[in-house]
Amino acid sequence: MKKLLITGASGHLGLNLALYAQRQGYDVIGWTNRQPLAKAPFAVDQFDLTDTQHLREKLEVTAPDLVIHTAALANLEACDKNPELAYQLNAEVPGLLAWQLKRMGVPLLHISTDAVFDGTKGDYSETDMPNPINTYAHSKLMGEDNVSTEYKEALIARVVFFGWTLNGKRSLAEFFYNRLKAEETANGFTDMIFTPLYVEHLASLLLEALEKELHGTYHFFGNQEVSKYAFGVSLAREFGFDESLVSPISVMDSELTTQRSLNLSMNSEKLRTALGHEMPGIVEGLKALHLAEDMGLRERILSFGSN
Ligand SMILES: NC(=O)c1ccc[n+]([C@@H]2O[C@H](COP(=O)([O-])OP(=O)(O)OC[C@H]3O[C@@H](n4cnc5c(N)ncnc54)[C@H](OP(=O)(O)O)[C@@H]3O)[C@@H](O)[C@H]2O)c1
Repeated sequence: MKKLLITGASGHLGLNLALYAQRQGYDVIGWTNRQPLAKAPFAVDQFDLTDTQHLREKLEVTAPDLVIHTAALANLEACDKNPELAYQLNAEVPGLLAWQLKRMGVPLLHISTDAVFDGTKGDYSETDMPNPINTYAHSKLMGEDNVSTEYKEALIARVVFFGWTLNGKRSLAEFFYNRLKAEETANGFTDMIFTPLYVEHLASLLLEALEKELHGTYHFFGNQEVSKYAFGVSLAREFGFDESLVSPISVMDSELTTQRSLNLSMNSEKLRTALGHEMPGIVEGLKALHLAEDMGLRERILSFGSN
């Protein structure tokens, strides 16, 4: 059984990935920071990755066969408020991890973001030039650069995703789900385009790519671009909520303070060719999100947050 270390195992991606990987037969070890995840069904270790001496020692002691690094300061406003922490966690820590894992001969999959692009063009492929427009995006791009400098065989996955999370409100899907279920209106941006995957579909693709020993930078996105407004409407349809409660607005009229890239439609042709199959789309993803709720995953994930 392969020992898979997942950093950020209490996060939106990390937790879903850890649960999924365990079901696929991996021996999962999850690292978290503030969340003890006491009820999680996999081994958990809790410490701050910016304590770099501790990080080095923990890597040696854990001796993983594979590492997926999802931990980050992923809130855009939090990055603006604390740029020092953003650069430390999103840029320096990935470089350190990469440096040490290369020496240990352990494969690394580093998670990055569509937000490295400025969103003026859309249909971004790996050959397009990144142009980050906020602290989060800039720190994540520096993280990519540090990983590829220290460990050129590492796999860097740019992603965007939706699913169920520990606090029940981290993801865009949960924003629409919570409001529409309560029969409240939910604003959806008509001018922000993205290409998301359901998080368990993403988890499956990440493990597949890791097993295929892909390296370098790849785009891991769905096969369909959609505005955040259209995403809300599709979610309402899937769950049988009143879709007229989703209100079309412009991001320019929102209260968000950090500047965001608008057209982040992404091209995953390189990954499609490498894996030899199509990526799932929005309708498939929302169906899987709904099925996961029916199967109790939403409640199960929420229960890990209460101790
Ligand atoms: N959400 C998206 O749609 C999206 C889009 C594009 C890219 N990404 C990328 O995907 C990855 C996962 O994002 P996410 O949305 O799952 O993030 P998230 O839900 O905000 O979770 C962040 C994780 O990082 C951990 N963490 C934060 N500070 C830490 C520290 N100092 N030391 C150790 N661990 C720390 C957190 O631990 P605690 O909670 O225990 O403190 C948590 O497990 C990130 O690399 C992000 O940049 C996300």
